[in-house]
Amino acid sequence: MANLIELQVNGKRSLVKYPPDASLLTVLRDELGLTGAKYGCGEGQCGACTVLIGGAPRRSCQVPVSAGVGKSITTIEGLEKEGLLHPVQQAFLDAGAFQCAFCTPGMIISSVALLHAKPNPTSSEIIQFLQGNICRCGTHPRIIDAVRQAAKTMQGGRP
Ligand code: FES
Ligand code: FES
Repeated sequence: MANLIELQVNGKRSLVKYPPDASLLTVLRDELGLTGAKYGCGEGQCGACTVLIGGAPRRSCQVPVSAGVGKSITTIEGLEKEGLLHPVQQAFLDAGAFQCAFCTPGMIISSVALLHAKPNPTSSEIIQFLQGNICRCGTHPRIIDAVRQAAKTMQGGRP
């Protein structure tokens, strides 16, 4: 049965009518038009669907929409502020840290969470944290470079 559910996504309040056990990913993509988070495996294994819920990275394909109620949800679309890309987004662009880019939104969201928890991670800490985000194109070395560059930028005082 569909219920009326209130979500706070990227700083905006939205009312959606969905069964409470529908996945958050489905609602974000199909109802709110936020297609940055991707459907990859649908089983919590690839990380393509990662979003922040209350600041923590979560696999939105595995989270029922009801679990997002009362929490602040951030998708890749919510990282840019006033026309400026988030430093992690900019660093991925600058490092060319993608090929097909299917994994990129999830990688970026997970990297943002990592840098909030640990502002200056080592390469091995980045690898460990991003282990659950799969890149089938093999751009991992550039992804690590991008996260290290973003860490430097963020420590330099950019948003
Ligand atoms: S689609 Fe959610 S983890 Fe793969
Ligand atoms: S860039 Fe293609 S899956 Fe990562």
